[in-house]
Amino acid sequence: MRAHEAGALHGDLGFRGPTWLRTPEDVNALVPQLWPRTVARGADGALRVAGLDVRELAAEYGTPVYVLDEDDLRSRCREFRAAFPDEEIFYAGKAFICRAVVRMIAEEGLSLDVCSGGELAVALAAGMPPERIGFHGNNKSVSELRRALDAGVGRIIVDSFQEIDRLTALARERGVRPRVLVRVTVGVEAHTHEFIATAHEDQKFGFSLAGGAAAAAAFRILDEDVLELRGLHSHIGSQIFDTSGFEVAAKRVLGLQAQIRDARGVELPELDLGGGFGIAYTTQDDPSTPHELAKRLHKIVEGECEAQRLALPRLSIEPGRAIVGPAVFTLYEVGTVKDVDGIRTYVSVDGGMSDNIRTALYDASYSATVASRASAAEPILARVVGKHCEAGDVVVKDEFLPADVQPGDLLAVPGTGAYCRSMASNYNHVPRPPVVAVREGRARLIVRRETEDDLLALDVG
Ligand code: LLP
Repeated sequence: MRAHEAGALHGDLGFRGPTWLRTPEDVNALVPQLWPRTVARGADGALRVAGLDVRELAAEYGTPVYVLDEDDLRSRCREFRAAFPDEEIFYAGKAFICRAVVRMIAEEGLSLDVCSGGELAVALAAGMPPERIGFHGNNKSVSELRRALDAGVGRIIVDSFQEIDRLTALARERGVRPRVLVRVTVGVEAHTHEFIATAHEDQKFGFSLAGGAAAAAAFRILDEDVLELRGLHSHIGSQIFDTSGFEVAAKRVLGLQAQIRDARGVELPELDLGGGFGIAYTTQDDPSTPHELAKRLHKIVEGECEAQRLALPRLSIEPGRAIVGPAVFTLYEVGTVKDVDGIRTYVSVDGGMSDNIRTALYDASYSATVASRASAAEPILARVVGKHCEAGDVVVKDEFLPADVQPGDLLAVPGTGAYCRSMASNYNHVPRPPVVAVREGRARLIVRRETEDDLLALDVG
């Protein structure tokens, strides 16, 4: 079946329907906002990244492979740095972390947010200065807290009264005075184009503002001579396009700041507004630039500080996806093309939900293009699926691909830098793909491919 009508697509798997509809004319086109900046189609029709032919990358490293455009990632770091010159920018390592990326972001002047002992270990192994590490988590273990203190991390974002107790005991035992922020649940939840400012206090993260726990946590820390309270922290969600959620959050958290000043005469010197800045996965997404974001966030914070007669705290932010997401694409090889008559064409690739769980988990939208050649064939609406034993194993829900898409073609899916390799699994004992960094005509492996031997090595029974 060719050129389906949009109405026919509403899903057997409950997906919302097409979000990325190419026209027949542009099936080979690359929409710039979706691709790492050095990607272009070469004269022979194959994609090139950092001057390298993707067919050569596939031949050398195999598929699937995550290809990271290092200049793209670095330029995003620089844009954030330039837009937030006086602020501390913590790259959220949960989006993707490995030693090479930690070094890149450190060289570009960013700090690092980690949220587990594992991420902390990678950060330290990469030589990240500990004072530039922030440690998050709603259930940090005693041993994780101990490691963070021993390493001398710059800030610990506390998330529960029990954590405050544990940290106090550990700090006392070790004779240190860690800097802490209180994670505040401000009652705002923002995702994509919407935000809701109601009762989203029903979650595991943070101290409730409305219920008074956030103020109580701040007072408790101020009373604890072994802890240094540096500020408040708020993170309202992910893939956010609408800054009004930040506005409400900043207002509320600075209201608490004023309450603390009024009660204790202390103006906390720092304020962290978290991450969550959206990126483009499809042509329908229109993210703000770091510059626009900075302008709005500064205006919000300055306005609110003025209203509350507070000195401006030093701001920090924690972008993850916006730094690494657009810098990476996944290169797959097509294995099977199945035309399920009257419904759609299924294009199966050699990876799937084990290297990108986001489509199955969040109904996320991606786009794709045939990467190894251009094609003059008419477009067909296809669904890109993986090789796993699960009907929900979908990578790209709806995409126009050329009708002659065939086994052996390389298919590239952009926007896979964040929460893909970091959330990868070994479902069906499929080894996790490598990450290859490309820059100025050179490729280097930064995370190697997992092997079946790696998997068997864990199997000690
Ligand atoms: N700061 C805090 C406290 C966070 O919890 C997060 C993300 C970030 C910063 C970074 O957010 P970003 O700028 O990357 O959106 N697995 C989901 C996303 C979960 C995000 C969790 N926290 C996904 O694939 O969309």
